[in-house]
Amino acid sequence: MSQPTIESILQEKRLFQPPAEFSQKAHIKSLDEYQELYDKAKADPQKFWADLAEKELHWFQKWDTVLDWQPPFAKWFVGGKMNISYNCLDRHLTTWRRNKAALIWEGEPGDSRTLTYAQLHREVCQFANVLKQLGVKKGDRVGIYMPMIPEAAIAMLACARIGATHTVVFGGFSAEALRDRLIDGQAKLVVTADGGWRKDGIVPLKDQVDIALANNAVPTVENVLVVKRTAQQIQMEPDRDHWWHDLQQGVSADCPAEPMDSEDMLFILYTSGSTGKPKGVVHTTAGYNLYTHMTTKWIFDLQDTDVYWCTADVGWITGHSYIVYGPLSNGATTLMYEGAPRASNPGCFWDVIEKYGVNIFYTAPTAIRAFIKMGEHLPKARNLSSLRLLGTVGEPINPEAWMWYYRVIGGERCPIVDTWWQTETGGVMITPLPGATPTKPGSATRPFPGILADVVDLEGNTIGDNEGGYLVVKHPWPGMMRTVYGDPDRFRRTYWEHIAPQDGQYLYFAGDGARRDEDGYFWVMGRVDDVINVAGHRLGTMEVESALVSHPAVAEAAVVGKPDEVKGEDVFAFVTLEGSYDPSDQLAKELKEHVVKEIGAIARPGEIRFTDAMPKTRSGKIMRRLLRSLASGQEVAGDTSTLEDRSVLDKLRGGA
Ligand code: WT7
Repeated sequence: MSQPTIESILQEKRLFQPPAEFSQKAHIKSLDEYQELYDKAKADPQKFWADLAEKELHWFQKWDTVLDWQPPFAKWFVGGKMNISYNCLDRHLTTWRRNKAALIWEGEPGDSRTLTYAQLHREVCQFANVLKQLGVKKGDRVGIYMPMIPEAAIAMLACARIGATHTVVFGGFSAEALRDRLIDGQAKLVVTADGGWRKDGIVPLKDQVDIALANNAVPTVENVLVVKRTAQQIQMEPDRDHWWHDLQQGVSADCPAEPMDSEDMLFILYTSGSTGKPKGVVHTTAGYNLYTHMTTKWIFDLQDTDVYWCTADVGWITGHSYIVYGPLSNGATTLMYEGAPRASNPGCFWDVIEKYGVNIFYTAPTAIRAFIKMGEHLPKARNLSSLRLLGTVGEPINPEAWMWYYRVIGGERCPIVDTWWQTETGGVMITPLPGATPTKPGSATRPFPGILADVVDLEGNTIGDNEGGYLVVKHPWPGMMRTVYGDPDRFRRTYWEHIAPQDGQYLYFAGDGARRDEDGYFWVMGRVDDVINVAGHRLGTMEVESALVSHPAVAEAAVVGKPDEVKGEDVFAFVTLEGSYDPSDQLAKELKEHVVKEIGAIARPGEIRFTDAMPKTRSGKIMRRLLRSLASGQEVAGDTSTLEDRSVLDKLRGGA
């Protein structure tokens, strides 16, 4: 683990007050009101969450115990029964929201669709019945490998409705990555589409599923359901594969939501860590529902007439929590967009905002930096005056990008919520509340009420203002992950043992470095483990290394992040070859494609540098710190005395 440094963090002094007009109408109207909530939650977290659970959610049966905490395993609302699909759909049907737009969908080729709460409910119930007819039962796992189309959300909600656990795999992952995840989750059924539109091309999702399942590689999968989206030629395996529209036809729309125990598993979502294969992060029902509900309501300050748009893919946690569950639980109108900015249509986001009068817009710093490059004229050519709130997520935002977002997109009238969180946390943890918290460009500001965040040293001691340390959370929260699927030991090791528990106080270690300033504002500085963040996507360097060494030409590989102006970081791979292979541009290209095949395009190395040897310590450990400096073109600073063979460094500097 490397020590976070504070050199790179700007001493940012600008402060932006929430506009008075915004605060007046906001759910949380002032810093005092935030502080009051924060203090109340800190004094009695269980009461704080229990009061909200009672007030904000529907329960079939109330819980007996608010929190059962056997560190590091938490159970929330034990004994309670509820269903998140009921909270997202059924309960709105008896209100005026029945015919309100629940989901507005804009397709990539320009087609569109709007589903009201009543319509979405109907589709979800029908699809839930389809799943039941195919033998899917409470507790079974269902793989979802989909483009950004309404059926992705419908499939998720249908699983939740009957108590099946969904495991959504991002449609940009390769067949190999999909197969690994389906095997680990023992999926019984896979929902996919013939293809998805992506930047003027088609992603052949069904073909990928066929490759993943070939030779009975995932023996648990009995059925594959296919949405017709792009209508290109695909193979349908008799008995195994079925068209969604065939099975949905004429199916009853009557499917009462299954009363689920609070702690029944809702979904598994795989994410990268510093070691081994991606981990199956487990989230359960009631705590996740409450946490995503409250964070969506207060952070995005949802009002009944808002059109809310989060640009993430449903294949990531941001899509789960802030396209599907959080907004729908609040009865909001959530927008889903299949497209992405690209050379042939760089202004498509601004078109969507103008077309639907989007009020709340939530995207990633990497996207903002790409927009800066594309030029102000694109957003300026559209009417963005409907916007009243902006958000960012996924990586630290540099103050320059923040300022551009504030000025050009927000017209200097929209607060920005820079939201820090992770797949593991279920929902946003550190963030401004837009009507309450003055913002500083580049800071995620303060913890959400009920979240006891701190910056500590390795012994768990709180460290002084403006010193770099490790970001931790001190008290369990309802949205926290419950375990690593099938590997509780890994859960304990990864998150709870880096920083030693003290007096029975367990600290959740996030893997990020941070500092806290004199106003109590958090500045997240990025990962301190071997995880890199490429365009807001999290990658384990070891995963990419494993992909590289699975190629016959590669003897050894070491992957580091190289700072990138737009993506934040890019994948930089040092590779030593097997004796019979020689370095060449052709081979570098082949290795990049090999990584794409093994993991997906998000992991494609930006650069491969061939080397005769890796810089290693005498005990044989690759010195990544040196490689990081080399990759970023910096002089190798610091101690190199532990290096076994110093001539390696000179060779690496010179390239192959
Ligand atoms: C990692 C989690 C959960 C949203 C999508 C990413 C980084 C996330 C911020 C932010 C600085 C951030 C952290 C974190 N990160 N948001 N606002 N400021 N860093 O989810 O794939 O689980 O990645 O993303 O490094 O640990 P994820």
